[in-house]
Amino acid sequence: MSDYTSKIALVTGGTRGIGKACAAALAKAGFRVAICGRDAERASAVANELATSGVEVRGFGCDVANGDAVEGLVKSVNETMGNIGVLVNNAGITRDGLLMRMKEDDWDAVLNTDLKSAFYCSRAVCRDMIKQRWGRIINISSIIGLRGQAGQTNYAAAKAGLIGFTKALARELASRNVTVNCVAPGYIETDMTAVFTEVMKKNIIHQIPLGRSGTPDEVAGLVRFLASEEASYITGAIIPVDGGIAM
Ligand code: NAI
Repeated sequence: MSDYTSKIALVTGGTRGIGKACAAALAKAGFRVAICGRDAERASAVANELATSGVEVRGFGCDVANGDAVEGLVKSVNETMGNIGVLVNNAGITRDGLLMRMKEDDWDAVLNTDLKSAFYCSRAVCRDMIKQRWGRIINISSIIGLRGQAGQTNYAAAKAGLIGFTKALARELASRNVTVNCVAPGYIETDMTAVFTEVMKKNIIHQIPLGRSGTPDEVAGLVRFLASEEASYITGAIIPVDGGIAM
């Protein structure tokens, strides 16, 4: 098994749901992990919870939709832990509504949190990855970015944007041994999807070939693999974790 103890992974939005599961899986694989959330205290509490059996996990407060805050976050991680080798661009929100009634604020909030944050974070870490001649950037998109969804034009645009961003950046960084990949989850049970009504849940599950929702751990397993040495020849890939719904 590879030794990842010299490698630092930053997971944005790592305080709950898919991000927390990714942080836990990376820590279990031996990476030293930094998680960030908007609330520094909560991020530290979750980091302490994950830092079992001597693995280093640290929490940082950062609004990833704010470029200056992201620069500050990466500086803090560099100073306290070292250079980042794995970046998981996971933080995301939804502000659903039909386009004709969508407020500009709801458009901007989703685009800034779900897409522009990946630009800020990737730009802030890629110089060190290039210098280290090793890096992994893993973007958490969504099958909504592939298929679209009524009421989610903002979210679909952001998540489809992440797919294009992944492919372009993968081409930019490939010669430096930095891979850039994209995970596209389907319906995963988290706080984000807890707002669905029972009828909505039933309707979605009806369309999923595997006949059930997914868990954050099932997404985290792929993220951990993409971060590992075993995934060294995979870049620019868009990989669904969706029970087959997007095929
Ligand atoms: P969640 O709502 O449970 O967690 C989102 C995390 O992002 C939280 O830790 C939150 O604090 C953080 N976050 C939000 N805005 C932030 C900001 N401005 N700065 C820093 N952190 C911020 O959501 P979930 O379900 O765990 O989603 C994680 C990612 O997976 C998101 O990008 C989401 O779009 C994506 N996804 C989720 C699916 C699902 O079915 N749950 C399906 C497809 C994609």
